[in-house]
Amino acid sequence: MLFCWKQAKMEQKQNRKNKWGGAMPLLFGTSKIDSAGILEIGGIKATELVEEFQTPLIVYDVQYIREQTQRFKQVFEQEDFKYRINYASKAFSAIGIYQLLSELEISCDVVSGGELYTALQAGFPAERIEFHGNNKTAQELREAVAAKVDTIVLDNFDEITLLSNLLKKRKVRQKVQLRLAPGIEAHTHEAIMTGQIDSKFGFDIASGQAEAALRQVLTDESFELAGVHCHIGSQIFETASFGKAVWKMMEILHDWQEKYQFAAAILNIGGGFGVRYTGADNPPAPESFVKEILLEVKAACQKYAYPVPEVWIEPGRSLVAEAGTTLYTVGAQKELPGIRRYVSVDGGMGDNIRPALYQAEYLGFLANRDSGGDTLAEKVRLTGKYCESGDILIDELFLPKVAAGDVIAITSTGAYTYSMAMNYNRNPKPAVVFVENGAAQIVCRRETYADMMRLDIPLMRK
Ligand code: LLP
Repeated sequence: MLFCWKQAKMEQKQNRKNKWGGAMPLLFGTSKIDSAGILEIGGIKATELVEEFQTPLIVYDVQYIREQTQRFKQVFEQEDFKYRINYASKAFSAIGIYQLLSELEISCDVVSGGELYTALQAGFPAERIEFHGNNKTAQELREAVAAKVDTIVLDNFDEITLLSNLLKKRKVRQKVQLRLAPGIEAHTHEAIMTGQIDSKFGFDIASGQAEAALRQVLTDESFELAGVHCHIGSQIFETASFGKAVWKMMEILHDWQEKYQFAAAILNIGGGFGVRYTGADNPPAPESFVKEILLEVKAACQKYAYPVPEVWIEPGRSLVAEAGTTLYTVGAQKELPGIRRYVSVDGGMGDNIRPALYQAEYLGFLANRDSGGDTLAEKVRLTGKYCESGDILIDELFLPKVAAGDVIAITSTGAYTYSMAMNYNRNPKPAVVFVENGAAQIVCRRETYADMMRLDIPLMRK
């Protein structure tokens, strides 16, 4: 992974006011900036990508995803654990990513009939799919059972009844896990905290709901209870939070073994491993998260004389966020004397809702040329094209003078951007392209006006 600080320091020495005004972009994977100041990803210049595919364009560095997957796998293998890495496909769900991850021989987590359908269409093997969700509909459960997904993660009592009836009708058994709310509060944005007690997800441990669910599932022959699951939140930076979750889950499992002679074959510890959006983010490496989890599983199993379970994780963001870069074209600008300059680009909250929704911060930079001797970087506000004052991609960004047609890159946009994209103001969704070894392949074509209209039905007039 290329981290540009060394280059930044050198450049800052030579020219204190570089084209980034001193704040360097973070470059991940194969991304680099060539001598002409042009961003290159996967061996292709941003300018070429823009010419071929237009903007806004989300570019995925495939090699990064391969390497990141390997980093997660490696620790399990070194530590000789049985494991599963389930890519949480809510981070980015499209046929292309399922195909890639299937080739990399990992599994996936889907949370809707739509994600399941897409994965199956991509040829993703059902025996490597787990189905999550706090309100799976009867239809979705039917689809999951019909597709023979490996695991359904049970989330609440209504679902236990719904699924049990369905399985009995079909005379089939289903492998399931119980999603528990372990009461661990990881430090992250409130909207993406999920492990705390007051949450819509999972069976609460403290109130005894989890144990009641266990009894119900164990006595129902339609279910094969393979293990337990928890997910403590997202964009977590502390490995210790995962250690705590492991202990909490193992305590419960120990208790359940004593009371019910139930031994979990699988401990599913969820996702949530943090990534870098700006220089202020300093998450541990994937290896450190996995190491912490496995060490604590080992220690807890030893303490409780518990058979070591297979360990599952569900990384979403950490597999794809840093692999993604969004390219935009600069359009209009507005100078407010004494206040600030607004620089608007041709995308915004429709392709990246995260700044508006979570005050998420990103780094952006001029990606199609050098600053042309303009070293007077200016602090601007980077805004989108949507009719909403909150459509701000980056609140404060240092940019050299830019003009209409310049390309701005925002890095670390591979997770929860395209998957949360929308058509507000009837703006089409962007295109998505995979790049690797100098070759680019479109995986989501740019939406057309007609695509957006395809569900509209004109009023009938007599
Ligand atoms: N497993 C479960 C059960 C989850 O609920 C999630 C995320 C994951 C795994 C994957 O978490 P990750 O590794 O990606 O952090 N839209 C928000 C993130 C919501 C995450 C919801 N659940 C955002 O843009 O930050």
